[in-house]
Amino acid sequence: MQVALVTGSSRGIGLATAKALAAEGFAVAVNGPVDDAELRAAVAAVQAIGPCVAAPFDVSDLSAHDPALAQVEAALGPLTTLVNNAGVGVLQRGDLLEVSEASWDRCLNINSKAMFFLAQAFAKRVLARPRDAAVFHAIVNVTSSNAMAVAVQRAEYCASKAAAAMVSKALAVRLGPENIAVYDVQPGLIATEMTAPVIEMYRKRAEDGLTLFPRVGSPEDIGAIIASLASGKLPYTTGQVISADAGMLVPRF
Ligand SMILES: NC(=O)c1ccc[n+]([C@@H]2O[C@H](COP(=O)([O-])OP(=O)(O)OC[C@H]3O[C@@H](n4cnc5c(N)ncnc54)[C@H](OP(=O)(O)O)[C@@H]3O)[C@@H](O)[C@H]2O)c1
Repeated sequence: MQVALVTGSSRGIGLATAKALAAEGFAVAVNGPVDDAELRAAVAAVQAIGPCVAAPFDVSDLSAHDPALAQVEAALGPLTTLVNNAGVGVLQRGDLLEVSEASWDRCLNINSKAMFFLAQAFAKRVLARPRDAAVFHAIVNVTSSNAMAVAVQRAEYCASKAAAAMVSKALAVRLGPENIAVYDVQPGLIATEMTAPVIEMYRKRAEDGLTLFPRVGSPEDIGAIIASLASGKLPYTTGQVISADAGMLVPRF
């Protein structure tokens, strides 16, 4: 059985991904920074589909990574799949000239540094043991359209996602010879708690042509993409960017 850890899966894209993976037959560890009611509700929702445990830890606490992976493996078996999804937006949207060091550090720590080191800890574990070559192993990183496209009121978020996109490429290069696939999923405009304050504005812009399909996306759209990738349904691929954005970034004039 494939075993996946999905970071930041107490709600939103992460929770939809955990459910989609469970529906594909994965055992799933659900993560949020703390063991709270939201995390427990997420675990119950996934357990209704398949095996699932809670793995509460703050991804920006690097010392928590290996103990958390060990705990997941003790409960579910050897990990085959890591979905680096946990992420945060900026502390305050606004003029790039006023971005605070605190918001920069928070974005970079959670959105790029944490996913690099968690992938490192995951890969070391996978490489340290004998593996069944028939079982598909993958890391799926959830970055953003903002890895490519500037949102000038959220410059530090864009920078953190661009770094995460490069981390994905570097991981793909290092782990390809080890038969671990690495993907970079770049969601566009997805209706979640993170985007709640701005989603109606984006919904209107999507309907007006910002995206090629005239709608914003759902967490389930992204969950389905990630579950397909993690299941090996795109064989002979790695290091790819999946623009999960309804064609928003297709160049046109
Ligand atoms: N929604 C979009 O349009 C969109 C577009 C592009 C990319 N993305 C990316 O997609 C990912 C998921 O976003 P979302 O929209 O689903 O956001 P969300 O609804 O805010 O969910 C974020 C999840 O990450 C968790 N999280 C945050 N910091 C964490 C930490 N330090 N350690 C562990 N878990 C942590 C949150 O838990 P707590 O709340 O308990 O902290 C929550 O479960 C993020 O990486 C985001 O940047 C989203």
